[in-house]
Amino acid sequence: MRTVGTLLAAGILIGGLIALEDQAGALDNGVARTPPMGWNSWNTFGCSINETLIKQMADAIVSSGLRDLGYKYVVVDDCWFDPARDSAGNLRGNPSRFPGGMKALGDYLHAKGLKFGIYQVPVDKTCAQYFGSYPGATGSQGHEVQDAKQFAAWGVDYLKYDWCSPNGTIDDQVRTFAKMRDALAATGRPIVYSINPNSIHAKTGPQRNWGDVANLWRTTEDITNKWNTGQTNGYPMGIQNIVDVTVPLASYAKPGAFNDPDMMEIGRGGMTDTEMRSHFALWAIMASPLIAGNDLRAMDPATTTILKNQNLIAINQDPLGLQAHQVSNDGARRVLAKKLGNGDVAVALFNQGGSTTTISTTASAIGLTGDSFTLRDAWTNTVSTSTGTISAAVPSHGTVVYRVSGGTSSTPTPTPTPTPSGQPGGCTATYRLVNDWGTGFQSEVTVTNNGPSAFNGWTVNMTLAGGQAITSLWNGVNTGTTGMVTVKNTSYNGTIAANGTTTFGFTANGNGSTAPTGVTCTTPTSQGR
Ligand code: GLA
Repeated sequence: MRTVGTLLAAGILIGGLIALEDQAGALDNGVARTPPMGWNSWNTFGCSINETLIKQMADAIVSSGLRDLGYKYVVVDDCWFDPARDSAGNLRGNPSRFPGGMKALGDYLHAKGLKFGIYQVPVDKTCAQYFGSYPGATGSQGHEVQDAKQFAAWGVDYLKYDWCSPNGTIDDQVRTFAKMRDALAATGRPIVYSINPNSIHAKTGPQRNWGDVANLWRTTEDITNKWNTGQTNGYPMGIQNIVDVTVPLASYAKPGAFNDPDMMEIGRGGMTDTEMRSHFALWAIMASPLIAGNDLRAMDPATTTILKNQNLIAINQDPLGLQAHQVSNDGARRVLAKKLGNGDVAVALFNQGGSTTTISTTASAIGLTGDSFTLRDAWTNTVSTSTGTISAAVPSHGTVVYRVSGGTSSTPTPTPTPTPSGQPGGCTATYRLVNDWGTGFQSEVTVTNNGPSAFNGWTVNMTLAGGQAITSLWNGVNTGTTGMVTVKNTSYNGTIAANGTTTFGFTANGNGSTAPTGVTCTTPTSQGR
């Protein structure tokens, strides 16, 4: 009986999940190919925001040099709106806080080479409205399409969408978040979709891979400027607590879809300089959005040094979009490794314990083979060499990050292996337009092995239409960005099993309505046509 009951329950569960997946579909909106970087008003200013403040912050992000390092999104969090919608049900900016209106604010940001982010909720009340610190009930519930159109008309580039309610199952959340995903897609404007399913709710962020619903999803309750609050996933979360929840979710991260461990607390006090550095290093290697939360008008040198660390920014913004996976963790000594697009591997040696300790790993443990490596320390920028040992004395709560180059990757670039000639099959390449927003588009190409045995190494040629230019390509290595483009496999997806497939994707400038011509696939000479 128990078995039958369990099977029945499993069947119902699987049926439910399939239905849910069908409804949710996959999010392919062409944005957030690497983790978004920027600034958000909440951590420092809470509800006390206005147009002047946001503009000052935009000015500071430019004058400090942060914009030019990639910090582009300026996100206006809770409390920007009029507590009542207009007579047609439209949202509008709070007239005393944002007298110029939200469109003008967006224009101001865009004119500075920045992008415009805004906060809203899928339920009836924003978090500030729920807690009674701000009047009204202006959430998007029942207004999804109307609000998405309004955001697009204002030039919004990033929506932070916060489920601030104890109500609703995880399935309700998936369905409701998907409504706004689809409403944003229908506007035709590329908008980063950042959700939080955890505010005063069961912590559903880490319970599924939300990459079908959103570009970014919060993994935990709200962050605070403390190292460890003792919470596993409750209000408020310290840096160590958030890392504990987010590291196991590494496999979900990919271009367009990232775990979000919340906005940064760097420059807000409450932690030592070592802890602040660790916070940034861990966010960087976890492929987390790098959204500063401090007052950018008044940064001390230590804060500037951390936020501007170009070695860590490059690791965070690597085009593979991978989140570091855990290599080892003995409770005190935690090692994380992130594979990078050029074959290097970034490794974090993180000391969770109370005193300085030596943390060690090896090149082979992080996926490299060979006997000669170069280690660049991301904080000191010094370079050392190693025959395989990767080790450092790390202070309590510190994180040493090395970018390790050299050796040969453990999944080497495939060398063609001749197979008997006359073998039937070969490969075909199938082009698919994923999303076209007029001035740019996203596409993918699926490479299929038609033959009865695996092959090793593939090449796709295609000729893009005039005016189209590739801006980013993943799961492949391209030669050329316009006209005739050649794409070869990366080191990790060269081998395709019999009848198997692999897919690479790209975003491009231009209009996507004309598909590339001459899309052909070849394998090494003796492996098929
Ligand atoms: C929630 C979110 C925070 C912030 C506030 C605004 O708590 O998790 O990041 O947006 O709401 O009220």
